[in-house]
Amino acid sequence: MAALIDTVTEAVVDARGVNSGVAPVTYGHGERPPRGDYAQARADYTCEQDWAAYSAADHDLYRRLYERQAAQLGGLACDEFIDAIGLLGSPAQIPRFDALSEKLQRATGWEVVAVPGLIPEEAFFSLLSRRRFPVTGWIRKPEEFDYVVEPDVFHDLFGHVPLLFNPMFADYMQAYGAGGLKASRLESCEQLARLYWYTVEFGLIDTPDGLRAYGAGILSSAGELRHSVTSREPQRLGFDLDRIMRTRYKIDSYQSTYFVIDSFKQLFDATAPDFKPIYERVAGLHELTADERLPTDRVF
Ligand SMILES: [Fe+2]
Repeated sequence: MAALIDTVTEAVVDARGVNSGVAPVTYGHGERPPRGDYAQARADYTCEQDWAAYSAADHDLYRRLYERQAAQLGGLACDEFIDAIGLLGSPAQIPRFDALSEKLQRATGWEVVAVPGLIPEEAFFSLLSRRRFPVTGWIRKPEEFDYVVEPDVFHDLFGHVPLLFNPMFADYMQAYGAGGLKASRLESCEQLARLYWYTVEFGLIDTPDGLRAYGAGILSSAGELRHSVTSREPQRLGFDLDRIMRTRYKIDSYQSTYFVIDSFKQLFDATAPDFKPIYERVAGLHELTADERLPTDRVF
């Protein structure tokens, strides 16, 4: 789920006052230790993908995760995602980021870069604004096959990278990064994090064949993919930028509300204008819980 959660970080400064690396980033406000080796990261939080360090068991775990998800994409994932998933390469092993970047560069000018794990918001926004998508190097443990708290290489690659081959979505992601850099200065990161959550991670799209998933958090989840598209439990509401920015979200259960876009162009167009007046408008309204319903909601 990339970096858009509450994170704790500070620069590492050695005795001479020289910035000697980056501090680990931890998940949420809890006591969870950071996951990933931040000692090797550069100042922008990128690092080398240590591909040789993956074990046969790591590759096999990736293959099993990939195959479980790929088997249930039909009728649940959007066509743009299904059409591009093969570009990740063979599921038999964790992809090499440099080879994947060559393909992405040719398609949409994006590349994937390795990071040790969660990274701070500013670093995340900065990479996106330069069409560089940060992908966690490590893979979950076998006992985390069904659920992992922090995003790992499987979530980041399988969930996020296929849609970066789609030109409109690729442009949206860059615009999001640029908007994020601005939001950091305006202290509106929370509103922008909600937009990321309800689109990039948990977005649904309306198609002539019915609702389909395009959010990475859904597409990389064994259970939520079917739940988000077919369950009668959650509410599915039409995309509304102001409303999304007011709506809190759940990080420890399936979502109770999904927002539905009509097209990736709608998403790009809605997020193209300057967000500053929107932040100001939203700041004056009360926050909404994750499962609230408004009379103005367009319900699917
Ligand atoms: Fe993610």
